Parts: sequence; C-alpha cells; structure tokens
Amino acid sequence: MTSKSKVLHLLEQHRGSYISGEELAKKIEISRSGVWKAINELKKEGYHITAVTNKGYCLETESDLLSVEGMAPYLPPDFPLELIHIYKSVDSTNNEVKRLAVSGGKHQTVVMAEEQTGGRGRLGRSFYSPPGSGIYLSMLLRPTISTEKSVLVTTAASVAVCRAVEKVTGKPCVIKWVNDVYSGGRKICGILTEAVTNVETGCIESIVLGIGINFKGTAEDFPEEIRNKAGFLFAKDTGTITRNQLAAAEITELLKLPDQLESGSFLPEYRRRSVVLGKQVQVVSSSGTRTALVQDIDDCGGLVVRWEDDGTTGVIRTGEVSIRGLFDQE
Ligand code: BTN
Repeated sequence: MTSKSKVLHLLEQHRGSYISGEELAKKIEISRSGVWKAINELKKEGYHITAVTNKGYCLETESDLLSVEGMAPYLPPDFPLELIHIYKSVDSTNNEVKRLAVSGGKHQTVVMAEEQTGGRGRLGRSFYSPPGSGIYLSMLLRPTISTEKSVLVTTAASVAVCRAVEKVTGKPCVIKWVNDVYSGGRKICGILTEAVTNVETGCIESIVLGIGINFKGTAEDFPEEIRNKAGFLFAKDTGTITRNQLAAAEITELLKLPDQLESGSFLPEYRRRSVVLGKQVQVVSSSGTRTALVQDIDDCGGLVVRWEDDGTTGVIRTGEVSIRGLFDQE
C-alpha cells in the first residue's frame, strides 16, 4: 500500500471531519511532508480535501471519486481488495474484464471506471456512461456455474442490484424483465452479461457480468432518445451517500450470486419485484410486435405469456425481445 493510499484510507474513515497532519503522519509512519505530498496528489486527482491550520485535513462529504479505499469499509473483510481495478476512463468495463480474463484474471475480478467511452448495452445498443455520475462495474465469474444456470446470471444480478440500492439509498426498486432495474418510475440500471467461450472446446470459460447504475445527475444530462425513460437515483445532492458505498454493497451482493444460482433462492424475490407479471405487454422482436399477457416467470427466467392474437401460450427467452408498455414514459 502506498503512502497516498494509506492517507486516503484514513481520510475516508474520517470523511466529513478533520484529522491532523500529525495524526496521519504517526498512524502511517511517514513524515509530515510525506503527508502533505500525498494530500496534494489526492487533490490533483480530484478529491475535495480541505486543509485548516490547527485542525488538519478533511475529506469533504461531497467528494465522490471511486476508490478501493472508499469502498473497503463497506466490503466483506475477507474480500481481496487487489481484485478491484478502477480506471478513470475505459472503453467498456466488460471489454476490460474480458481482456483480464484472457490473461488469467481471477474469479470475482472487478473492473470499474469513472467513465466509459464505448459503454455497451443489450441488443447492440450503447450505454450512456459520462464521467462521475454512474457506477460502471463488471465482474468476472469463472464457472463454478454450470452452463444451464449461467442463463440466470442476469436475472439473479438484477435482484442483487435492487437489494444493494435499497440497502444503501432506501429507494424501492422493481425489475422490468429481463434485466432493467427501475426506481421512481425510471430505469436506473441496466445489466449486460457476456460469456467468454473457449473456441476449441465450445465451453463457457468465464462470464462477464456488467452493471451500469445511473447514480447522480438530472434528466437533461441524458441523450434525448433515452431522456423519457432513464433516470438517476439522485438529482444532485446525495447527502452522505457515495458511489463507493453503493458499489461496495453491489459487490457484496454479487459475491452471493454463485450460491444463489445453484439454489435458485433469488427467483421468488425476482417474481415479487417484477413489474411485468400479470400485465399486458408489447413484445418487440425482429419479426414484429405482438401483444401478450404475462402469466409467469419460469425457473429459467423465461417469460410465460398468452398471446392476445391467437390465444396460445409460449415462453420468451432472455435476449430475444424487448418489452414495452409498462411505464408511461416509454
Ligand atoms: C442495457 O441496459 O442494455 C445494459 C447496460 C449495461 C451497461 C453496463 S455498464 C458496465 C458494463 N460495461 C458495459 O459496456 N456495459 C455494462
């Protein structure tokens, strides 16, 4: 751990209050000028640190840069922090996890970025990922998970996101099949799960689970085409809640994923949180749009529907379609 990282760690522990340069120097076992140098580096990186004579240094509550030090207090104590990689800017955190996977990245490797220049969404769409306002996070899952269960990763992850958001922000969340998390009637999170397949064996070598949460901003920040649908958890003032807190809660929930996939224990909660169950929806696929009544969500995460045009029932599988007609803004 570098001196800068140790200083940040202590500042995070005292967030919103002052800690003297002397105490920092003593705790870290470096000189006062070493502390001063580290503080200056952190300020240059964008941390809001106030220095007051005779009081010391204060990491201001609104300072909200993603950092391992900021997340550490909220992560399980046994989680290896070296698995977390944070970038200022990256094309896509999913792409970066794939690159790490190819070079031997470990199970539960996490990549996060302040900004994505080529954030990707489902069905070939892009995912708007401006700096400082979102939590763009991807996790590498090495299959302890069977191919059969891997189709449920997205489903289970959406429940994990709801739990993390509600725990940290107190804002209720619902799920729009298959993977969109809504809060306050707006989409606040999207999930893109990708598989890395071994071309020789045809087996899934790893799964890349990518989650984008719109944390802080206003509707005008979004591109016009998604402005009516997408939303942020917070407008501007987040109180004392930071992205680090929510990201750590998210990771904590995701660590439970492999066990939950095995047992299927998240499925009743997924159904409870689903806004499509019992609703009439428009199912949009490459062959056109059809109206259907959603009757159930099966144990593989498929949507059991009764088609309105011919009265037959069918199951819609992940990735085939998009659903419309649930939220007024769509
Ligand atoms: C969707 O709503 O269509 C899915 C959006 C998924 C976005 C996340 S952000 C982190 C990860 N990196 C990406 O490029 N995409 C996912």
